[in-house]
Amino acid sequence: MKKRYLVTAALPYANGPLHIGHLAGAYLPADIYVRYLRLMGKDVVFVCGSDEHGAAITVKARKEGTTPRAIVDKYHTMLKDTFEKIGIAFDIYHRTSEPIHHQTSQDFFRKLYEKQEFIEETTEQYYDESVGQFLADRYIVGTCPICANPDAYGDQCEKCGSTLSPTDLISPRSMLSGSVPVKRPTKHWFLRLDQHEQWLREWINTGQADGKQLHDPAAWKNHVLGQCNSWLDQGLQPRAMTRDLEWGVAVPPEIPGAEGKKLYVWLDAPIGYISATKQWALDNGRDWEPYWKSDDTALIHFIGKDNIVFHCLIFPAILKAHGEFILPVNVPANQFLNLEGRKLSTSKNWAVWVHEYCEEFKGQEDVLRYNMIKKMPEQSDSEFTWKGFQETNNNELVNNLANFVNRVLVLSHKYYNGIVPAINPDLTFKSGWEPDKTGQYDEELHLLHRKLEELGAEIVRFDFREALGTLMEISSAGNALLQFNEPWKTEKENPEMVKVVMNLALQYVAVISVAARPFLPFAAEKLRAMLNLNPLQDRGDLLDILNELVEGNPVIQPNHALGQAQHLFGRIPDEVIQKQIDKLTAAEQANQAQNIQPSPSKYAPLKETIQFDDFAKMDIRTGTILTAEKVEKSKKLLQLSVDMGFETRTILSGIAEHFTPEEVVGKQVIVLANLAPRVMMGTESQGMILFAEDAEGKLGFVSPTGGWPNGMGVK
Ligand code: 2FM
Ligand code: ZN
Repeated sequence: MKKRYLVTAALPYANGPLHIGHLAGAYLPADIYVRYLRLMGKDVVFVCGSDEHGAAITVKARKEGTTPRAIVDKYHTMLKDTFEKIGIAFDIYHRTSEPIHHQTSQDFFRKLYEKQEFIEETTEQYYDESVGQFLADRYIVGTCPICANPDAYGDQCEKCGSTLSPTDLISPRSMLSGSVPVKRPTKHWFLRLDQHEQWLREWINTGQADGKQLHDPAAWKNHVLGQCNSWLDQGLQPRAMTRDLEWGVAVPPEIPGAEGKKLYVWLDAPIGYISATKQWALDNGRDWEPYWKSDDTALIHFIGKDNIVFHCLIFPAILKAHGEFILPVNVPANQFLNLEGRKLSTSKNWAVWVHEYCEEFKGQEDVLRYNMIKKMPEQSDSEFTWKGFQETNNNELVNNLANFVNRVLVLSHKYYNGIVPAINPDLTFKSGWEPDKTGQYDEELHLLHRKLEELGAEIVRFDFREALGTLMEISSAGNALLQFNEPWKTEKENPEMVKVVMNLALQYVAVISVAARPFLPFAAEKLRAMLNLNPLQDRGDLLDILNELVEGNPVIQPNHALGQAQHLFGRIPDEVIQKQIDKLTAAEQANQAQNIQPSPSKYAPLKETIQFDDFAKMDIRTGTILTAEKVEKSKKLLQLSVDMGFETRTILSGIAEHFTPEEVVGKQVIVLANLAPRVMMGTESQGMILFAEDAEGKLGFVSPTGGWPNGMGVK
């Protein structure tokens, strides 16, 4: 048994709002788990925060024409607010741009550096000469070698989902300028993952490391183990932990060669869990270290499946390399949630945005939570539909839960003026658990106890769908209890038996007011008010009622005065659902139109087809511009002398409005060498230099890369 829990949920990039896939993937399962632990009186800290570094942020800043700082400030605030509205109860929602995080990450880097966990290596990376910058993987686009998608990123093809590296791309181009990037050597620090492979394999599959049993692999999800092993089987390679970037955590400046280098975002982001815990400890006068350094802490990472490798292999390797930190006991990653038959996509605007939901469905936050849990992609991908959302609400939340609670409250007020009736516990009735079963008060309390234990066991094994089902079984049994005994008919002739039934029904509602809290925190709070019971303290409230029930004691006492019935859940009509479906389609269409519109005008129409012979008539050669000067009285022309290898030519080129003579001297170019000579402004031009031209008429140099001899043919 662990003494304390440190629960983390993946730090979302602060580059966009939260959608339902994020919610179902990491945040809701973590929240349910943590709320349950708190109800069981456990010592638990739940941390999260915004991931504010990496290309995800700078790409977005470029797109919006603003700074990374402005982007992270905007989306951090938005994310924090959305999490609060939908009831994700973090102990702290931190951010990785905070100084305490930069310091913590740099300390980690230093420690690893001192322990010689890195190798320094100089490799060739893509560099954009026109902007003078190395290109992050996300800044390079090109054709996917696997599916031929022309817009694959340097790290991933979003069309076929393949993981790529920039050098895999066919015809790479820089997203910053559109130009063809060149390779340049640069030095980076690589974490020796190869040296960690062996213990990682053992730790993942047996739970053992350093001779200690640290976790039970049977408690890990199969798809998580599977993904880890497939990486391990391919062999772990040293992985660069630094980047040439402007934005991010600086490599500690005292390390030689640190200038201009930043930490790789996947090094600093998970350390964000640690810096968040430190900040929480500072804010609350607590000590953060036991949560990260003591063997009796259970560290659990909730994430989506795209983060598995980082949390199960790379971050553990970093923690172990550091030497003072514990490893996670489980990483219960979820798979993906689809929306109306398709993959959720931020770029295609195919998503349900949580902040918009909270605006449009005020007071119905739990309805979304309920649906997300019911459809949680725990073992395989799953699907959200608006129709399903409506049906679930109307059939389960309204017809089952809200209906039960309402009936109990209304009848209690009607028969007993809202006072919990005192009873004779020996009287029997019809149990709600199965038809024809005779119910007995104490025994039914024990049954409730058993159901709650079942629900708890499901939560601790991350079986949240199942646990929600168990909660609803309690409500169904409560409904059946009323249905089978029909107090509205029997109250006159058998009032004592009805008191037992109603008292028991109130015990059910009281149990639900606690047990529903992990799933439906807003409804649980309302139930507490309806029952006139204290708001939950999150300090063992469920443990308290388990202790009562196991003794056969009621959890809401006879003669207790109830509060008034409140609206718990209402039916959602067709119009509301249709509006959402229309909105989804409209948003996607608008997005498509936006993406398609510029393209027809961006590209010049294709010229008519020619035969190979037509092409073969052209003699195209490499050359280097030796001198350049303006042509008197001409705005457009530069007079160039061009080294063609076999001779030097004079060429007049209409580029004076695009380049100064100094800019062109020394450039290697492509020359159409057999174009008939032509006299312009009194000088004969002996060929034509080829340039790329964009929609605005801007010219770009076309030259062979890497020092080509002059006079060579181009075909
Ligand atoms: O995939 C993502 O959205 C990352 N921002 C998750 C980071 S999780 C952790 F390591 F911080
Ligand atoms: Zn592809």
